[in-house]
Amino acid sequence: MDVRTFKDSNGDGYGDFKGLTSKLDYLKNLGVEIIWLSPFQPSPLLDDGYDITNFFGIDPKCGTKKDFDEFMQQAKAHHVRVIMDMVLNHTSNQHQWFQQAENSDTSKYHFWYVWTKTRPKDYNKGMVFPGVQKEIWSLDPKLNEYYYHRFYKFQPDLNYDNPMVKAEAYHILGYWLKQGMDGFRLDAVPFIIEEMRPGAKNLGHDFDFITQMRHYVQAQKPDAFLLGEANVLPKENQDYFGKKGERMQMLFNFFANQHLFYALATGKLDEYKKALQETDNIPPASQWANFLRNHDEVDLGRLSNAQREQVYQKMGPQKNMQLYNRGIRRRLTTMLHNSLQLKMAYSLLFSLPGTPVMRYGDEIGMGDDLNLKERLSVRTPMQWSDEKNAGFTNAAKPFRPVISQGEYNYHLVNVATEQKEPKSLYNWMAKLIKIRKTCPEFSFGEWEIIPSGSPEILAIQYNYLGKTLITLHNFSNKSEQAMLSLSPKKLTDLLENNTNSTINGKFKTALNGYSFKWYRLN
Ligand code: NOJ
Repeated sequence: MDVRTFKDSNGDGYGDFKGLTSKLDYLKNLGVEIIWLSPFQPSPLLDDGYDITNFFGIDPKCGTKKDFDEFMQQAKAHHVRVIMDMVLNHTSNQHQWFQQAENSDTSKYHFWYVWTKTRPKDYNKGMVFPGVQKEIWSLDPKLNEYYYHRFYKFQPDLNYDNPMVKAEAYHILGYWLKQGMDGFRLDAVPFIIEEMRPGAKNLGHDFDFITQMRHYVQAQKPDAFLLGEANVLPKENQDYFGKKGERMQMLFNFFANQHLFYALATGKLDEYKKALQETDNIPPASQWANFLRNHDEVDLGRLSNAQREQVYQKMGPQKNMQLYNRGIRRRLTTMLHNSLQLKMAYSLLFSLPGTPVMRYGDEIGMGDDLNLKERLSVRTPMQWSDEKNAGFTNAAKPFRPVISQGEYNYHLVNVATEQKEPKSLYNWMAKLIKIRKTCPEFSFGEWEIIPSGSPEILAIQYNYLGKTLITLHNFSNKSEQAMLSLSPKKLTDLLENNTNSTINGKFKTALNGYSFKWYRLN
């Protein structure tokens, strides 16, 4: 979540730490165990906080250091852990390091960034935001040299070839661990470690730096963890987790995510099954963070053009819904637009091998605002009630508009209304999360995809400490017959709370369109 869009306590139109603290009971009751905070440090907010001007500070809009400390204490008291986004790849160009770097090419800070006097041939290749970003080497007018930036022009990359920059990264990590952080969502990992010297060919990645950060963090706080943002191919997973799990403890499973969207769009499961299997081979103590949506676009860059087109057709047909020639800038609710399929997707998220990660507002089915630019469409303020500004702020105007039009407007979609309504998405999800907590198999078990009797039903079996679970998810909008071969067993349906049996080593059940089952085998 973003502190700035969650809950405003002082009526200035921005969410803040005091507001977030007041909502800890809400998060705890929903079943949240760890809060991931997107960047809350001082920033001109040109990339929504991923452009930082002081790594050790707190954006005054989010509150004071005292408000932050109080939040951290209260989170501990609620037994909720807190991790923060750690943006080490770049700074804002308004950061004083960069300003000193551009003022003088003899300043020590000059060497904290990556420069070249002549424009490299490939200056306009490899942009992270194609269509919006024009180049990755931009001319600095003050110095008349080109600086490197993988992201927007106002986010110059730090130079990790320089040991002083690495030392500063440890300093930042250590500082926030001391402030109580339980870990970090490491932003843009492949770019932090990419070796970059203008003109040089075939430069690699400094994977040792990940190992060193892991050691540093673990030495300061043994149970703190690194959760990496690295949208990489399965064959690269080991580089990021480490051969023996000695690098990042967790990674987001971007690869499976894109194939899941293809499966949701088409009902075709083969590629998704393959993606799950290809991402299975990770060290025993490493863990996937599974997600459906996050604060960025759904990145479909690893699908073929034809596959991506099919996902666009189903989930983001208008040009305005698409972004960076590879993704969709909508929330899941509006993309699926079918409450059964939506629930099926969440049931899958909460039962995939690994740890589920959800975005604030998904629990009530918040929508998006396509009038906002790029990824801001999915970053609108939390909808708490049907009062003014969705109960997010008392200010005359929130810093970003709340959704007040259309099917997902805050009069219809908000926490207060959904908490009262027994059949709401919120109540369904809170219950699902409770049931998941009785199923350690999903987090720790061995798992395999088993024959389900239908090409459109995904069946996964989990085993952990002698206990077995089977989940079934029907990706088709039509009823499908599932048939499982099992030695004589009783199956307890955890979601419906009833018991079924196998007959002659077979278990048959019909699954309505987009329905799902979680069975415990006895
Ligand atoms: C990845 C973040 O998820 C995205 O929101 C941000 O724009 C870039 N990194 C740059 O920090």
